[in-house]
Amino acid sequence: MNMIDNDIVLALIARAEEVKLNSYSPYSGFKVGTAVLSTGDHVFTGTNVENASYGLTVCAERVAIGCMIAAGCEEIAAIAIAADRPYTPPCGACRQVIYELGPEASVILSGKGKPRIIAISSLIPTEFALDE
Ligand code: THU
Repeated sequence: MNMIDNDIVLALIARAEEVKLNSYSPYSGFKVGTAVLSTGDHVFTGTNVENASYGLTVCAERVAIGCMIAAGCEEIAAIAIAADRPYTPPCGACRQVIYELGPEASVILSGKGKPRIIAISSLIPTEFALDE
């Protein structure tokens, strides 16, 4: 797992909390904000984007990761996830996407009290890949 400086952890959480306010989540009422740090030290943010056709909902993690890729950055060093409850680990689909683009990524779960930092490899120990 990448070792992330504590100041960077706090800055990523602040960005995730800030962008969370822009969440489009009228159906669940569950606002999620994320901040992705690329290995090139750029930060990309995202929120969940829901839709009346519920299955079209996109998680905040994949919105931020899409922005990272579109900007030409290739690898995730860390991702902070914020929601209005103690901790929100990423869903299974997002774990798969985070792993592929950041096998060494640190997942920062922001909540009340001290943030929890978990290696993506421990959240998805047997990821799907085409080259095995
Ligand atoms: N959601 C995320 O944005 N990220 C997650 O890791 C879990 C769930 C969103 C999807 C949906 O808009 C809402 O939270 C409730 O599931």
